[in-house]
Amino acid sequence: MKMKDNHTPNWAADAWEKGKARAARASERIGAGFPHGSADGQYRLMSPTYWTAGFWPGLLWLLEREEPNAELRRMAEQCEAKMDSLLTRYDELSHDIGFMWTLTAIANYKLTGNADSRNRGLVAANNLAGRFNAKGRFIRAWNQPERTGWAIIDCMMNLPLLYWASEQLNDPRFRHVAEAHATTTAEQFLREDGSIFHVVFFDPVSGERVGAAGGQGYAEMSAWARGTAWGIYGFALSYRHTGDENFLRASERAADFFVGSLPEDKVPFWDFRLPSFEGAPRDSSAAAIAASGLLELAAAGVDRAEEHRSNALAILGSLSRSYVPADDDAEEGLLLHGTGNLPMNQNIDVPIIYGDYYYMEALSKVLHGRESFWSPADRKGAGVSAG
Ligand code: GLY
Repeated sequence: MKMKDNHTPNWAADAWEKGKARAARASERIGAGFPHGSADGQYRLMSPTYWTAGFWPGLLWLLEREEPNAELRRMAEQCEAKMDSLLTRYDELSHDIGFMWTLTAIANYKLTGNADSRNRGLVAANNLAGRFNAKGRFIRAWNQPERTGWAIIDCMMNLPLLYWASEQLNDPRFRHVAEAHATTTAEQFLREDGSIFHVVFFDPVSGERVGAAGGQGYAEMSAWARGTAWGIYGFALSYRHTGDENFLRASERAADFFVGSLPEDKVPFWDFRLPSFEGAPRDSSAAAIAASGLLELAAAGVDRAEEHRSNALAILGSLSRSYVPADDDAEEGLLLHGTGNLPMNQNIDVPIIYGDYYYMEALSKVLHGRESFWSPADRKGAGVSAG
């Protein structure tokens, strides 16, 4: 049963239907592939080892959840199976396994109870927990030998895999790792004004913080828009999984910075602190992630829930009005104007699969009252209402 909601904005159903139709059309070419960034109207397909491998199958599961579709479900299951060989290739697994298996195996398990999917999720969680540096109390990013002490804000979104494993096994070890990493991130990444470092360096032996870097942002002290969005959503999820109010405060601090720094149309430039915004590309993916993260805060029933919901709807409304392709445009991506990695000159001002995923995820919360696959449970009909 879906929650009856008298406050769902009237654009949301139209936005969902258009997104669904475009994704269904794209599935005829993409199938059980792994799209990343779109070029000239078509998604470029990547190997299943790339960090974004989960977003397309995750999007297919979002659609299947509302309207069972054997074909889309088969594609999602095939993507999950294609990722299997990676689970035993240690050197190719990184901190991003939370992104990858939460939207494949965990989504599948939550929706169907598939025992193989549960097993994949637990194997992935064990690998993620094994990346924990006990001295510095952080989960290590990437695998290069010179990066043994690196941690990144994006990793906050990997923690739900650990919370899930603790719930499944009734064993708090995984949650301990997630909480320690989230606490270190709140202390070492989040600045007083709510902006966030992308990369923080620790001495891997002593665990001391030794520096920071701009990473995918403009500079060390700038404010990468998507990094801020990862912070909003990641801390909100850690709050929902643990009840620790430090994580709520961290999420709201990042949210206040993000919302307070938005341009008039509510979709950020790729970094909030650029020397000039003239000609700078937007990052619609950051907007979609932040909107879904704000809805996660609202779903937590916090004091400021209505404010977070209203900010999320303002962002989503703008995306659905001004950042989607025209109806007669054959573009495969759902959301235009994403920016992947500007310093590396990759995927600038194009649709990117994670923008599409979080846009539809946020709409599924608003329209269908859903929990996300990252959330403590998929309590059908128990999600947020839109006000
Ligand atoms: N690596 C995660 C991101 O690009 O946001």
